[in-house]
Amino acid sequence: MGESLLTNLPGTRDLLPEEVARWQLVEEKARGIFARYGFREIRTPILEATELFARSIGSDTDIVGKEMYTFPDQSGKSITLRPEATASVVRAYLQHTMYRGTGLAKLYYIGPMFRHEKKQKGRWRQFYQIGAEVLGSDHPAIEAEVVEMVLSLLSSLGVGSRLLINSVGCPDCRPKYVELLQGELRRHASELCEDCRRRTETNSLRVLDCKVESCQPIINGLPMMIDHLCETCRRHFDRFRDFLDRSGIAYELVPRLVRGLDYYVRTAFEIVSGELGAQNALVGGGRYDGLAEVLGGPPAQGFGFALGLDRLVMLLPEDVRGQAVNRPDLFLAYMGDAAFDKAWVIAQALRARGLNCYVDFSAGSLKSQLRLANKLEASHVLVIGDNELAEDRYPLRRMADSHQWNISLSELGTYLESQRARRTE
Ligand code: HAM
Repeated sequence: MGESLLTNLPGTRDLLPEEVARWQLVEEKARGIFARYGFREIRTPILEATELFARSIGSDTDIVGKEMYTFPDQSGKSITLRPEATASVVRAYLQHTMYRGTGLAKLYYIGPMFRHEKKQKGRWRQFYQIGAEVLGSDHPAIEAEVVEMVLSLLSSLGVGSRLLINSVGCPDCRPKYVELLQGELRRHASELCEDCRRRTETNSLRVLDCKVESCQPIINGLPMMIDHLCETCRRHFDRFRDFLDRSGIAYELVPRLVRGLDYYVRTAFEIVSGELGAQNALVGGGRYDGLAEVLGGPPAQGFGFALGLDRLVMLLPEDVRGQAVNRPDLFLAYMGDAAFDKAWVIAQALRARGLNCYVDFSAGSLKSQLRLANKLEASHVLVIGDNELAEDRYPLRRMADSHQWNISLSELGTYLESQRARRTE
């Protein structure tokens, strides 16, 4: 016997309806806020040529080296389930010559990404990102604007966070710094962990990200990129910080902040939340001006971020979670066949007016129907029985305060509509 067919794969999960309601709440908030900043949605394929990610993210990164779901398709071509979407968005931008249009391309996406990571709290192999990319500008103000946009999404959801920033230099200043860094690392090679010794030669900036205790004293004494920026990078970073200050956005400068993807130049940032534990990064992003050329296109500047949706949903405070239920405006409870027929007709009429109505089909007792109404968090329950049918007035119960009164069908729709309008105000 192989693995059970009744279990999903490790690192993936089913999102059940209660959970999905919270995801939709976040997604709707994001769509609304991003629209205010002029972003429009793009949907790119989940499958791409393997080479797209290998070239853009970098072959010495953990993502490309260890974590990609890569396989040959039926024609033998190597394809990969996207581990992130920046590469795909830049590909689409170039493929559809969006740079020919006027202004910037401001694009956002929401969807699943795939990385075969070690199991840990806050890490999934299929996880979801909300991301945004601006193509066509190297203005530091656009960076501050994008950071402001994602921070306002988080605060609208009541999620507290800290913004960490750094500059990782450019192809002018970084190679000189990397040489300096490698020299230092080689001098201390015997004191470093095995990963750091390997990274010294393959991807030395990533050493700064090492969490091994015994490496910390050495890393703390290493030269930092921020002290070796060229004049252009220094000025760019100062202006970015100035725009953050002017927008009243607090940040921490973290010289050890390097990102796990190779395409970054100049500004890099992360937004973290103390409540997430070891996997505390909620948002990661930065500038990637060289990426379009790496993919074989004309030069195009880019800046963006991706937010871990799985992690964000974990952080939603209780009151925001409470808003995320698709509750029925009306639950129609009935006793007897004639009442059922009436409930069915009323539900149809109210749904046509845009109201959420629920009729139970399991023909249970009134008590079990009311139990279900409670479970579904229905705002109101209408009880239909023989007497009510004869008089054409029905007891309506408002569940929030258990207030109950009789109402005629002609008043019912208007009343429920007014209640709904009040709830969504
Ligand atoms: P990233 O830092 O690899 O950046 O991922 C961004 C966010 O995705 C992380 O901060 C985290 O919240 C979430 N995330 C990553 N891996 C996992 C996982 N295994 N399980 C759950 N959540 C995860 C990027 O992907 C870049 N494309 C961001 C970017 C856009 N840079 C410029 N534009």
